[in-house]
Order: sequence, then structure tokens, then C-alpha cells
Amino acid sequence: MNIQWYPGHMTKAKRMMQEDIKLIDIVIELLDARAPLSSKNPDIDNLAANKSRMVILNKADMADARKTAKWEEYFKAKGFFVLSMDSRKNSGMKPVSDTIREACKEKIARDRKRGIINRPIRAMIVGIPNVGKSTFINSYAKKSCTKVGNKPGVTKGKQWIRIGKDVELLDTPGILWPKFDDQEVGLRLAYIGSINDEILTKSELALKFIDFLKINYCNALTDRYNIDIDIQNSENFEILKQIAVARLCLLKGNEPDLDKAAAILFDDFRSGRLGRMTLEEIPE
Ligand code: G4P
Repeated sequence: MNIQWYPGHMTKAKRMMQEDIKLIDIVIELLDARAPLSSKNPDIDNLAANKSRMVILNKADMADARKTAKWEEYFKAKGFFVLSMDSRKNSGMKPVSDTIREACKEKIARDRKRGIINRPIRAMIVGIPNVGKSTFINSYAKKSCTKVGNKPGVTKGKQWIRIGKDVELLDTPGILWPKFDDQEVGLRLAYIGSINDEILTKSELALKFIDFLKINYCNALTDRYNIDIDIQNSENFEILKQIAVARLCLLKGNEPDLDKAAAILFDDFRSGRLGRMTLEEIPE
């Protein structure tokens, strides 16, 4: 299978982000905890050069907790400040401002020396589509959301959300499109729903996904669909057929509807109903 994928509006979005980044102190990059490196756009390292950097492993509620802990260590070792969370839950937001302050400690000290006291830290969220940027901004801003209007030093037209007394968040996240030339990365992005389903045959994608499940989470399918099949020793095609039958996805003449079964499989995976899973291992 060859994944052909063409990002739209990428240049314009990147140019806008380049402008926005000039205004901010810290770039908070949201990654999908289930595929942290695959959901990381490498352009951000250039765009955010000389800025404080923070990584949020989002959707951690659907990822394998032990693997997420290892990914946290991985990014910390690369110099990022790291948090993992479920952005839909306000409860995960507590450490965010503290971590932002910690990441910008040196900058705050430099400002103090220059007589600049209590200038809020300006933060911006970036990430690939569907990683949870809007959800994060809404949750983070919920507690004490004050829109900061046009005032000296704040670019006209930009909306900032004041969080507490010392953090301002740009209310428009920076969208980066995923990048890949490795087909495995493309597959992971397709599994998590970050690249459009329409460009891939759903059932073909499902057969690949079943390969991954066989190796990594071999009981997930029998547990979820109550199918009586030897997962390890069956053809992926047969497994998908059984899922179709179990879920009454049938075409005319009672033929199993594999596309529908594949849609159910991905819907279940993407909403966490298949269990907590991480698709990507830390590189050697
Ligand atoms: P984006 O701005 O980066 O494009 O992403 P957005 O916030 O729109 O989130 C995309 C989807 O991911 C939404 O689901 C959202 O609820 C879900 N999501 C965001 N953060 C988390 C998280 O930490 N954990 C989980 N489990 N899901 C998360 P949706 O189905 O598209 O919308 P909705 O039905 O929830 O409204």
C-alpha cells in the first residue's frame, strides 16, 4: 500500500505561524500520546528555535500508561518540559501554568534584570490537526478566561486569553500538517485519524492495523468483539470478516461488509473503546 497524501494550505498556515511565533515566549506542542513522534512535525524545531519548548502528550487517557511514562522521559532527555494529559478533563490542567513558568524561568530572570517585572508569559499552542489543540485551549482557559483586547505591545487583531496573573495564551493555535516519507508513520497517522480516511481504503488500512494488534495487543479484538477466532493463527482478512459478522455488517446475500467493519474498528480504536494503546516505540 502506498499512502499518497497532499497537505492543503500548508504554506499559508506556516507563514502565519512564523509571524505569531515572533510574539511568544513559549511554544507548547501538542502530540498524540499514542504516536508521539509520528504526530510531531519536524518543522516546528526551526520555527520555534530560541523559544522555550514544552511538549504535551495529549489523549494520554487512550494511550498505554507505561509507554507514555517512557515517552515523557524521552522528550525530557531532549530538553523539553513535558506533561501528559487528557485535555477534555479540566483536572489535568493544574500543572500547566507551573510548567510554563518553570520553562520560562531564565527569561523571567532576564526580564527582571532589565527592570521588566510582571510581564505575562506569552504562550502558543501548536500541533497537527485533530491532536486536541482547541480542546486543550478551551479546558486550559476555562478557569479564568479573560480575553485580552488590543493594548500596547499586543498585536492588533490577535486574541490573547489571560490565564491567572502571569500567562497569556494566543487563542488561535498553530496548525502544522503531519509530515512523513516513512509509510509506517503514515499508517500510524491514519490509524489515529490525523490524515483523511478517504485517501486510503478503510479495509486495507484495517488489515494493516490488525497486523499491529496481533503483535502488540493480541487480545483486544476477541475482547471487544466477542469473536471466537485464533487471532495469532488466522488471516487478517478472516478476522475482519468475523468482526463484520459479529457486528451484523452484511451486504446483499449476507456477504460481510469489510469497509463497515473497518469503520467500526477505527471508531472503536479512536475513541479508546478498544483499550489503551500506544502505536509507536521509542527509537533505539
Ligand atoms: P484540533 O483543534 O487539534 O484539531 O483538535 P480538537 O481539539 O478539535 O480535538 C479533536 C478530537 O479529539 C475531539 O473529538 C476531541 O474531543 C478529542 N480530544 C481532544 N483532546 C483529547 C484527549 O485528551 N483525550 C481524548 N480522549 N480525546 C481528546 P471529536 O470526536 O472530534 O469531537 P467531540 O465529539 O469530542 O466534540
